[in-house]
This record gives sequence, C-alpha cells and structure tokens, in this order.
Amino acid sequence: MCGTLASFSQWPYTGLATPTDAGHSTHPSIDPAQRVVKPLIRWAGSKRSIVQRLARYWPSDAERYVEPFAGSACLFFELNPPHAVLADLNDELIKTYRAVRSDPDLVIACLRRLPKGRQGYYSVRQQSPRMLSDCEVAARFLYLNRNCFNGLYRTNRSGEFNVPYGPPKKTVKDFEQRIVDTSLALRTAEILEADFEDTLYSVQCGDFVYLDPPYAVSSRRVFAEYLPNSFGVADLARLCSALDAIDRVGAKFVLNYADSGDARRFFRKWNPTRIWTRRNIAGFAGARRGTYELIATNFEPAQS
Ligand SMILES: C[S@@+](CC[C@H](N)C(=O)[O-])C[C@H]1O[C@@H](n2cnc3c(N)ncnc32)[C@H](O)[C@@H]1O
Repeated sequence: MCGTLASFSQWPYTGLATPTDAGHSTHPSIDPAQRVVKPLIRWAGSKRSIVQRLARYWPSDAERYVEPFAGSACLFFELNPPHAVLADLNDELIKTYRAVRSDPDLVIACLRRLPKGRQGYYSVRQQSPRMLSDCEVAARFLYLNRNCFNGLYRTNRSGEFNVPYGPPKKTVKDFEQRIVDTSLALRTAEILEADFEDTLYSVQCGDFVYLDPPYAVSSRRVFAEYLPNSFGVADLARLCSALDAIDRVGAKFVLNYADSGDARRFFRKWNPTRIWTRRNIAGFAGARRGTYELIATNFEPAQS
C-alpha cells in the first residue's frame, strides 16, 4: 500500500509548522555535468568510512532520497540522487547549505575576507551569527569548520560555538571549487531545518530514507554532542515509531546506529546486522580505533 505518513492518524506528528526551504541557485558558471563531490563539511559521526557499503542499499528506482539527520550528508553526495530532502536540526549547518546552493560566489567572497591564523580564528569565533547575512553565516561556519579541532561542532549553553583552534595538517586543495560543486549537487535538494520527526512526516511510498541519528548510548562514552538536548535515549522510542510509519507507507529505509544494548532492543524488528567500522569521532582516541555499528533496514538490497 502506498501513501504518505500524514495519512496515518497514529503518526506522532508534533504539530510544528512545516519547515520551509529557500531558493535554488542560478549560478551561471556551474558545470551542468552531474558528478560526485566530496562533502564540504568535516563532521563528527560522518559515515565516510562505510559510505560504499551504505550506497549498495540505494534502490535504483527510488523516487526520492530523504536524509533527516544530514550532517555532512556523505551518502547524499556519494549517490547524487535526482531528488532529495536533506534536513538537520542544526540551523547554521542548514543556513550554510542553502547559502552555498543559492550564492556560492558570495559565500566564497565572504570567506576570502576572514582573517587567517589562530588569532583570526578566535576573532571569527567570537562573532555572533545573528548579526550576519546568510552568506556571511555560511562563510563563518565553513571557516570555523575547516579550522577548528577535528571538525567538531559544539556549543555552550548559550548556543555559542566553543571548539578550540586546530586546523588539519592537510589543507583542502580547491576548496572554493568544492563550494561551487556543492552548490550544483544541492540544486535538486529541498533543505530543511527540522527535527527528524517533522522531516519524516512527508515520506511517501517510493522514497528511500537514510537515517544516521546521533548516538544516544547510555552505557559508554560516545560522541553525542551536536546541539544541547537534540537527541537522547528517550528519542529512540520516537525514532522506532518513525521507522514503523516509514515501513507502513511503503518507503524503504536504512538506519545505522552504534551497536549497544539499547540499539539491539529498539531495532530488533529490523534484523540489525553488525559491521566493523572506523568511526570518525573527533577527540575520542579509543573510538578512532574502530567499533561495531548496526545496520537495520526494511528491505534486501539488490545484489551488486
Ligand atoms: C551522526 S550525525 C549525521 C552524520 C551524517 N550522516 C554524515 O555523514 O555526516 C547526526 C546529525 O543529526 C543532527 N541532529 C541531532 N538531533 C536531531 C534531531 N532531533 N532531528 C534532526 N537532526 C538532529 C545533528 O545535528 C547531526 O548533524
């Protein structure tokens, strides 16, 4: 049976306003040839190390790609799907994607104006994004992301970014070109600042949903700090209802989650498979060595 999640009265929709999206780029210098671009952003919890494995789940007949916990959206960029919804609760991240999509040249111009080095970093970090235009917010976000310790995103209780200076040893060549390429890749995406439940509310039959939530594991220390109180163990129950609703509506999903007692209990119904992965979690030396991850899904991927 096909429908949208909204047709199920038991769907736990919170009644929040439907998230809105901004305009699309008309950038004249973008090469129209679609090609895979590397994620623009360094992100704790990025699934770059297992992206090829996840890509096998992409059904070639999927009508739309939906990613409610987008972060650096590495699977989206790998697949380059024809239609997509990318959403995240992080408003600066979402503003950045929208500004890059609609005006990459202006984002690049704002980025060029930012001061270099340690002192420059702390002066940019001190700026309030509330006082900046959308392209300036995007430039500041990209600048801090490239120059902060391990690409972490962490704020204090007042919502101020507080990650120390720590640029990577290797700088990205052609970062400005990557901004332009990202703008092109995002052209076909709806980009939403939203809680995952609100994003999933519009899922339809034929959609493919990739879920990579933060790890809310109570039994051991894993990186879970994206935004204060954004996702905790209590949210796993909301997530489970969402998976049931996605399945009922006739859409396909793949979820990955840290292997833990909580996860095995919550996702038991979806035959979780355990895989070994090198997890990209900044600042947690133990976690960098590797860890088990669960992949849960409501369908069998085609054999490759
Ligand atoms: C593990 S990361 C996703 C990483 C992504 N797959 C990648 O490759 O970079 C989880 C993301 O969920 C976002 N997030 C946290 N709580 C959320 C919520 N309640 N609804 C939507 N997004 C949320 C965080 O901001 C973070 O970007």
